[in-house]
Amino acid sequence: MKKIAVLVSGRGSNLRALYGAIEQGKLDAEICLVVSNKSKAPALEFCRNKNIPCQICKLKDFESREAFFDHLAGIVSLSGANLVVLAGFMMLVTPNFIRHFPNKVINIHPSLLPSFPGLDAQKQAFDYGVKISGCTVFMVDEGCDTGPIIIQRAVEVLETDTEETLADRILTVEHDTLWRACKIMLDGKVSVSGRRTLIKEEQ
Ligand code: GRF
Repeated sequence: MKKIAVLVSGRGSNLRALYGAIEQGKLDAEICLVVSNKSKAPALEFCRNKNIPCQICKLKDFESREAFFDHLAGIVSLSGANLVVLAGFMMLVTPNFIRHFPNKVINIHPSLLPSFPGLDAQKQAFDYGVKISGCTVFMVDEGCDTGPIIIQRAVEVLETDTEETLADRILTVEHDTLWRACKIMLDGKVSVSGRRTLIKEEQ
């Protein structure tokens, strides 16, 4: 069984959706570990309810970001994860962390990258006045939301939208996108060529 480690910082709705996709048999995998850098993250409560192994790992308990992420890399390696998913993990990982898991760390972002990277992507898109936004799952590299794109899904911005309604609709699409990205990654269907990913079609 393929194993997924998930890093979170907060609400954990993408984690819940991923767990749900596994429960529904859409994704043949197990969540072997969840690590949160926030002790009060609601995502942790979900893990405890579902008996998913989880740990809290706080930056302030380490001498440096490097030390924090080296420790994190150790825990994730020990979990035997085949894939590392950042699902609302609000920190930039270090180059050394990525080197531990080459082409195996993915992130989900609530905009069509490269538009609106960083924080409050839905608000950035709404304020800019775009007619189409969406979400992106990408391979994490050393930049902020800059890695090769695996899947993008579009969400239309309606004239009746507020920032919140737009964010809600994007989130629903995120929930249906993340497990699909995990599936093709775990099935070995994704290869990287420069900035592009190549996805093997189903036969
Ligand atoms: C999502 O919108 C995700 O795209 C972004 O952070 C948010 C996390 O939400 N990276 P949740 O914790 O999964 O509910």
